[in-house]
Amino acid sequence: MSIYFEEKSRTFHLTNGMISYIIKVLRNDHLGQLYFGKAVDHREDFDYLVEIVQRSMTIYAYPGDMKFAIEHLKQEYPAYGSGDYRQPAVRVIQKNGSAVTDFIYESHRVIDGKPKLEGLPATYCESDEEAQTLILTVRDSLTGVKIELLYTLFADRPVLARSARFVNEGADDVYLDEAMSLSLDLPDCDYEFMQLSGAWCRERYIYSTHLRPGIQSVESTRGASSHNHNPFVVLKRPHTTEDAGEAIGFSLVYSGNFIARAEVDHYDVTRVTMGINPLNFSWKLEPGESFQTPEAVMVYSANGLNAMSQVYHKLYQKRLARGYWRDRPRPILINNWEATYFDFTEEKLLSIARTAKDQGIEMFVLDDGWYGNRINDKSGLGDWYPNLNRLENGIVGLAERIEELGMKFGLWIEPEMVNFDSDLYRAHPDWVIQTPGRRMSHGRNQYVLDYGRKEVVDCIYEMLEKLLSEAKISYIKWDMNRSISEAFSGVLAADRQGEVMHRYILGVYDLYERLTSAFPQVLFESCASGGGRFDPGILYYAPQGWVSDDTDACERLKIQYGTTMCYPISCMGSHVSISPNHQVRRATPMKTRANVAYFGTFGYELDLNALPQEELDMVKDQVAFMKEYREVIQYGTFYRLASPFEGNIVCWMCVSEDQNVAVVGWYKILNGVNMPFSRVRLQGLDEKKSYCIDGGESYSGSELMHIGLITSDGSAGELVDGVIPSCDFDSRLYILKVDVDLPEGR
Ligand code: DGJ
Repeated sequence: MSIYFEEKSRTFHLTNGMISYIIKVLRNDHLGQLYFGKAVDHREDFDYLVEIVQRSMTIYAYPGDMKFAIEHLKQEYPAYGSGDYRQPAVRVIQKNGSAVTDFIYESHRVIDGKPKLEGLPATYCESDEEAQTLILTVRDSLTGVKIELLYTLFADRPVLARSARFVNEGADDVYLDEAMSLSLDLPDCDYEFMQLSGAWCRERYIYSTHLRPGIQSVESTRGASSHNHNPFVVLKRPHTTEDAGEAIGFSLVYSGNFIARAEVDHYDVTRVTMGINPLNFSWKLEPGESFQTPEAVMVYSANGLNAMSQVYHKLYQKRLARGYWRDRPRPILINNWEATYFDFTEEKLLSIARTAKDQGIEMFVLDDGWYGNRINDKSGLGDWYPNLNRLENGIVGLAERIEELGMKFGLWIEPEMVNFDSDLYRAHPDWVIQTPGRRMSHGRNQYVLDYGRKEVVDCIYEMLEKLLSEAKISYIKWDMNRSISEAFSGVLAADRQGEVMHRYILGVYDLYERLTSAFPQVLFESCASGGGRFDPGILYYAPQGWVSDDTDACERLKIQYGTTMCYPISCMGSHVSISPNHQVRRATPMKTRANVAYFGTFGYELDLNALPQEELDMVKDQVAFMKEYREVIQYGTFYRLASPFEGNIVCWMCVSEDQNVAVVGWYKILNGVNMPFSRVRLQGLDEKKSYCIDGGESYSGSELMHIGLITSDGSAGELVDGVIPSCDFDSRLYILKVDVDLPEGR
């Protein structure tokens, strides 16, 4: 890993043998972007990449010079206003109202390791050998605003992590109206823009469109990263597949309003910018103040989307997620939400827990409805103490009884919200986000606390700290069930109202940081009406997240498949629920519901006492199976093999680090009759090893990867007793275990 600086040509080359990133200080002292992609050999200059020519209708930088035009140059961190008409990375509003700045190179330094980003989640190193960081300083001399651009290159990953830190070293206030985490100019536009988009109950579907002139973007303005668009996009070549071709991933480690856009200019240059959404964002920087942008993580793959995803999986699993649970297989849990909703008593919960324990389930999670006056979704939010009318022994007593059964106890909270009908709201009606004189919109009868106010976060922290200290709680499900509207803070001055949304999310991070530090062994699972805030920012605090409120196995194929584009299996909350399913009324086999849920953290969300004995026996077997294979599934290398967005068959697999064990999940959406034979080419195996499939026949890794695994099912076979021996929503798991290393030459 090297970060070169060539003094004569003023060129920076960051390379680790996998990727190269090249920046040059241009003639006007701005930073130019020369290259990002597969590693290239170093040389003293890459000046041939700075192409300047005279063209009509161009604004030139220097009097008498008809060539040097910012508009034609690939910029590193472009500013608004001086002849670059594309979307900027930075826009600073000044005392006189001007938004024009001129950020010129001032200095740079290279440090070992990776600095922490104050108050923000970010990837990290465990030792200084793991990464190097280039800090490039540029300054606008008129305002005195300095920007430190941070580039962290990881030693053995094709990853570059970027962010920007602003410091006002001038004499006047300025306002940051646009402060992106990254900007990247690529020399052509032959890319597809891939995004993960959807809505509640159908999060993170994969969409790809070829770039065209103009801007394509995804964003959130809701106060959370949202169900609708994930802060993650990919630029991939049109021919790129899961296994071959170029792809560049862009992922923002942030949970609030974001934007990710690709702009193709009139010379087919593609500019990617990613960061805090500038819509209604404005951050006042008084003299001496600083502002740190969230981090954006770029991954380059020359070998397709699976390779790109695997880099994100490992990075986010090991160098974004933190703490006690980071490397541990996740407990198999039972959650009572779809079993009881608000209708439970302590005895009912305990009876579900007892049955769960008998099947080997490790943790019981009590969802919504245990606190304040929470009998339905109209009251109680904000009052984080138990409802003793419903739970006579409180949370302390219930947790104790669950522990006595030999299980761990987990609890649901939604700490960012209040209902009007709550003690907290009655005591502090001014703590909610509301605009004076305006209507207050609600979502699910609830209102959003102003987490930009420290006293609000302190108060919630105290309630939760008491709860977690008193009761034996091993897991917290942190929910968040509405978007922010009428954004305004009662404690901020008029010229700081553009800070509300970002301050809100900083408050959320602050509470997460305080709780996870005070209770390091508690496993946090994030949730936002399912996957409404499923992003890398939250993953820094909560190593797993509830992927979606849609628990139907067939729907989950798309949701989980899309989610794996960026996020590791170990962070994907997935449960077996009842059939017919509560969201779509679809009936699916018990086996398939588990076969889908295994590819996640795994648990159950149904009334086990309502299951016939035959299904309970299946639960027992499933739990035993997951205990044996969760390490491979959650921490192995994951491959997408057949996409639910493209066909009737879905397939994916996980391979252990040592390539000795693999678990393949195969799913068929609709059944057919007299269907073709089928096979799936596996991935990630050792060609030279022989794998025994489900304790039966053995095949070499090379056969399984190049010829394929035979997956033909009953729909491609003979009728049995006059009917097809397969069904809709069928599925299979294949367990591959190495039996022998193959002799040379076989
Ligand atoms: C939304 C979550 O996504 C559900 O799992 C459940 O916890 C409900 N909220 C409870 O209100």
